[in-house]
Amino acid sequence: MAPPRRRADGEAFLVCGSRGSGKSGWTRQQCEGAERLLVWDSVGEWSRDGLVKPVRSLQQLHDLITTDLANPGPFRYGYTGPVNSKTFNTFCKLAFVWMKAAPGGVLVVEELADVSSPGKAPEGWGEIVRKGRHYSGSIYGLTQRPAESDKTLAGNADVIHCGRLSFPTDRKTLAEYLDVPVEMITELPSLHWLERDMRTRELRGGILTFSGNRDRQTRILVGDPYVGRRKKVTRLPG
Ligand SMILES: Nc1ncnc2c1ncn2[C@@H]1O[C@H](COP(=O)(O)OP(=O)(O)OP(=O)(O)O)[C@@H](O)[C@H]1O
Ligand SMILES: [Mg+2]
Repeated sequence: MAPPRRRADGEAFLVCGSRGSGKSGWTRQQCEGAERLLVWDSVGEWSRDGLVKPVRSLQQLHDLITTDLANPGPFRYGYTGPVNSKTFNTFCKLAFVWMKAAPGGVLVVEELADVSSPGKAPEGWGEIVRKGRHYSGSIYGLTQRPAESDKTLAGNADVIHCGRLSFPTDRKTLAEYLDVPVEMITELPSLHWLERDMRTRELRGGILTFSGNRDRQTRILVGDPYVGRRKKVTRLPG
């Protein structure tokens, strides 16, 4: 008998950047084609743009997930109901049940700073971040204010992705997370990004581009600043 096949690990992404820096645009490109996508759509933009169907209450989400559990299949929904720490916790508990139902689920949480604080992650969110990988679930946690968001995702992310950040404390936080000089963060204009794959330590940079209705991404590999290649990053603009 063939040995059971191991499921591919899910991936966790922390996506940081000030308002309009390109977080949602970049994340949308990553999620393109995901058959199973659940979004904490706190400003309703994913559903407004037709990327997911809106779910306006946790009861409605509960019912959809219960139906899905019986026969997991294509599922693209975004929760657009009230945003507070209590609804977020319940959303996360439902999301974890959904994630466990079938491999390959992608969970996106828009604006973590709305619902978490610099201390320990809210219970339901922390559980997904710590255990989601075992169910092949991927997570994207987005925040304008990384210094004000919980550190559980920062400490467990496979990839930390950073766009333009205006607030000095946030720049310092991301420079620490990415192990780069803070100037590399300060120099990023809107739509430019840096990210580090924490598994391989590879540092990458790029510019988010859009083409017609179809988003495209230009990815430029950059060297680690500590080996003297920082200029490659400063050339990114233009
Ligand atoms: N499909 C698209 N085509 C062209 N421009 C786009 C597209 N999607 C986003 N943009 C532009 O890219 C910029 C970044 O938008 P995005 O929504 O990704 O920012 P954000 O970092 O998520 O901001 P916020 O924190 O306010 O949600 C904005 O100027 C936006 O108008
Ligand atoms: Mg956004």
